[in-house]
Amino acid sequence: MKEQTTKLSIKMKRSILNLPAFGKRAFLMAALLSSTSALAQGQSISETEFLVYVVAGMVLITLLAVIATAVYVFRVVNLLTEQAARERAERLGVEYVKEPSIWQRISQKLTRATPIEKEEAILLDHSYDGIRELDNHLPPWWKWLFYGTIIWGAVYLIVYHVMGLLPLSEAEYLAEVERVQAMRATREVVEIDEASLVYTPDAEIISRGQAIFTSNCASCHRNDGGGGIGPNLTDDYWIHGGSLQNIFATIKNGVPDKGMISWAPILKPEEIRDASFYIMSIRGSNVAGGKEPQGELYREELQAVKQDSVVAQINN
Ligand code: HEC
Repeated sequence: MKEQTTKLSIKMKRSILNLPAFGKRAFLMAALLSSTSALAQGQSISETEFLVYVVAGMVLITLLAVIATAVYVFRVVNLLTEQAARERAERLGVEYVKEPSIWQRISQKLTRATPIEKEEAILLDHSYDGIRELDNHLPPWWKWLFYGTIIWGAVYLIVYHVMGLLPLSEAEYLAEVERVQAMRATREVVEIDEASLVYTPDAEIISRGQAIFTSNCASCHRNDGGGGIGPNLTDDYWIHGGSLQNIFATIKNGVPDKGMISWAPILKPEEIRDASFYIMSIRGSNVAGGKEPQGELYREELQAVKQDSVVAQINN
């Protein structure tokens, strides 16, 4: 028994002193941690974010290295003082008794465990097939946790049920529901009637539309609307019609087969209106270096003429 414990303690000491292996493991863990947290973000992490991750990773690795070194130095110093004390005891001809470490003392305070040498005193009389039972204390840490729950229970009862200082879960839930309903009631609902929407060169709407266009549409239609993957929006030729209603409908429904997604799930109706107004404002401006025309010629005046002729035809 005794031989076993000494063997075990020697083994433990060796593994703690085996710093290179420990350092390698710590390094691998830190590298793994920092890389997985970066990967979990997907492809969408920005350059600054990436830099923050790299720096945080470095700091973590350095910190682990410092801690590992400190532990190592502490162990070595401990070992040296222990050795010196042992030698001194030998010289004086007394038996060396190792002092318990801080951790051992704390652990002893928390558990009050009976040392193996004194177990004989708490051994109970019965024996089941050679298995015997020790009458150990309940560990103090466990007892204090238990007393803590009793105290917490009393405080909870008084605060929530006796004095009613804080709301119970049901009241909390109802208050939350009420808060959301109040929020819904005050939310501004912008109804847009696409069919009767009329274009007005409202500078505020157009500049909002331009911002929406720059961040969502410029990648395919170019910053100035001159076209790229998507058609030129500054000429008078339109694949899906050049009226405000046509443009609104194209943005809202998209042309999924041709690579123009439906923006209805992404943009709010008023944002689609703002983008449409912006396109109306650049329509026919024929920016330099724009894409060649696609679709049919569409001009408001032509349309008006067409309408007139339709009316004339009907009248005739
Ligand atoms: C991924 C690329 C892409 C993005 C992003 C994109 N579009 Fe398009 N868009 C296209 C393509 C391609 C077409 C042509 C569809 C076709 O050939 O029928 C098109 C067509 C259009 C048309 C019709 C043009 C015509 O000639 O009738 C409008 C208007 C339009 N886009 C507006 C927008 C707006 C506004 C946004 C941003 C909210 C946007 N697009 C974002 C690719 C894109």
